[in-house]
Amino acid sequence: MASGRIPREFIDDLLTRADVVDVINARVPLKKKGREYTACCPFHNEKTPSFTVSPTKQFYHCFGCGVHGSAISFLMEYEHLDFVEAIESLADSMGISVPREKGSGCPSEAQRQRSKDIYTLLEEANHYYQLQLKGSARAVEYLKGRELSGDISKRFNLGYSPAGWDNLLKYFVRQYSEEQLVDSGLLIKKEDGKIYDRYRDRIMFPIRNRKGQVIGFGGRVLGDELPKYINSPETQVFHKGSELYGFYEARINTQKLERIVVVEGYMDVIALAQFGVSYAVATLGTATTPEHIKQLFRAVPEVVFCFDGDRAGREAAWRALVNAISVIQDSKEIRFLFLPDGEDPDTQIRKVGKEAFEMSLGNAQSLTSYFVENLHERFNITSDEGKARFLGEAAKLLKQMPDTLIRDQLIKRLSEQTNVDVMTFSNRYLRTKDRPESGSKSLNRINFSRLSNREVRQTPVRYAISLLLNKPELVQTVENVEQIILSQLPGSDLLTTLIEAMQENPQLNAVALLERWKNTELEAPLSHLMMWQPETDDDDILRRELQDCLRQIRKRANEIKLEQLIHKARTSGLNEQEKGEYAFLSQNHD
Ligand code: UTP
Ligand code: MN
Repeated sequence: MASGRIPREFIDDLLTRADVVDVINARVPLKKKGREYTACCPFHNEKTPSFTVSPTKQFYHCFGCGVHGSAISFLMEYEHLDFVEAIESLADSMGISVPREKGSGCPSEAQRQRSKDIYTLLEEANHYYQLQLKGSARAVEYLKGRELSGDISKRFNLGYSPAGWDNLLKYFVRQYSEEQLVDSGLLIKKEDGKIYDRYRDRIMFPIRNRKGQVIGFGGRVLGDELPKYINSPETQVFHKGSELYGFYEARINTQKLERIVVVEGYMDVIALAQFGVSYAVATLGTATTPEHIKQLFRAVPEVVFCFDGDRAGREAAWRALVNAISVIQDSKEIRFLFLPDGEDPDTQIRKVGKEAFEMSLGNAQSLTSYFVENLHERFNITSDEGKARFLGEAAKLLKQMPDTLIRDQLIKRLSEQTNVDVMTFSNRYLRTKDRPESGSKSLNRINFSRLSNREVRQTPVRYAISLLLNKPELVQTVENVEQIILSQLPGSDLLTTLIEAMQENPQLNAVALLERWKNTELEAPLSHLMMWQPETDDDDILRRELQDCLRQIRKRANEIKLEQLIHKARTSGLNEQEKGEYAFLSQNHD
């Protein structure tokens, strides 16, 4: 993150002073509802508002798509700013200037300048390649031969990199340093130090990020030479695991984005768009990552993976399923469409047309159905051994799935098909030791929806965390923090960390604390627990509830200590101090 040189205290202070309601309301009009404000979520399509903003917590959250965070995260998401830009914008709106820590040649600033230059460089290269396309009859002929319209080539800004080793180099040599040219991925440096154009005699496909900035290119040969495609390497601005070809274009060219089709190739995205299916994206020569899917889910409720019907396509589809599994949500749909052998989306839509293609998207196989079908193809459940392997393989994946209705149904289906009842299946396969139930991990498994009172109160640790996040002042009443961890209850480490941070920084509100833990594993469990809202605002009641949680946690800690002492007494005996402790604990043990 480029936060580097802005003092931590400044960010804390900014988040304590800024009002998230003002920040959001200026961009998305909010309606007051009870103690919170609501609106239709600006980050996904919806008709009834599930986006809520809490003035007391200074926190927003969407129960539909799961986005959440502080005023800073809102600006980052909504205005497509990076962290530093969001802070600057927020400070600016409050008439404050952003202080910078001293230190000559502030690296994050320099780095930011460098990425800015890379974006400009890439945009200029894009322009250059497009000009070259106009000048190359052969390249234009190639695109015509692929039956791409002039309009669609323009919409995707297709270009051409001329043959020769140094065309781009010559074009750029006065404006940019060698280092910048190599950093952009467009030029390659040989071992002897000479640099040359990466793309030569290829059709160029500019790849844009979600802001529309060019971040890299794909380049295709005009003939049958290999490699067929070359893609930009990973650079400071280009990350294959989180970028999708055509995502930006899909957003700007689709009136109402409700579904996204994920295909394998650049040409597939473009051919589909030419035929009116403007909502296709492609991964960049890699498998779909969970990060890809998370991004797609933010934009639409339905993602259809479309693969060739051949073996490679089937393998890619299964990999996509495996990668999707950790991010499934009940409110989102993932489906799979397999094309007839020998076809890809490009050839298929030319054959069947828009209507039939969209019809097949509508009828695509559900994730659960594909999941089960694939396992049946691999295992024969007519024997007991086959059944066991079938369930074992299914369990591996089920363990990675968030706790959802989709998961429950899958379990039910598998148990029906194998005649192994759900209880036996769960006990034998889903509760193994490799699924940690202690530590903060298990708190990570809470879903998006607002937690009910029952869920929050289910465990004293969870309830205590929620209470503290809602009323940070309560932390003043907490004593003997070190005992909490002894309880070994799930999440007790998280609770301890939270209490210590709150006691150290009594001036911070919860959202400022959360901002500190952004992108750490504490973020998800804490922000989920933050969404819960106590029924009352009454300080006394809340304080008593917290004390009650802590009492339960300590009781558990004492039980554990007592067990340890009993064990020690049996094995190696107790010393005087331990004996005293034992007497004390066993008397106070009910
Ligand atoms: P395909 O080989 O299926 O190509 O690769 P395609 O998209 O159908 O292309 P045309 O129709 O022959 O022009 C699918 C995707 O895999 C990546 C590219 O992203 C391509 O779009 N790929 C393929 C590479 O990165 N390198 C290659 O050499 C081949
Ligand atoms: Mn193709």
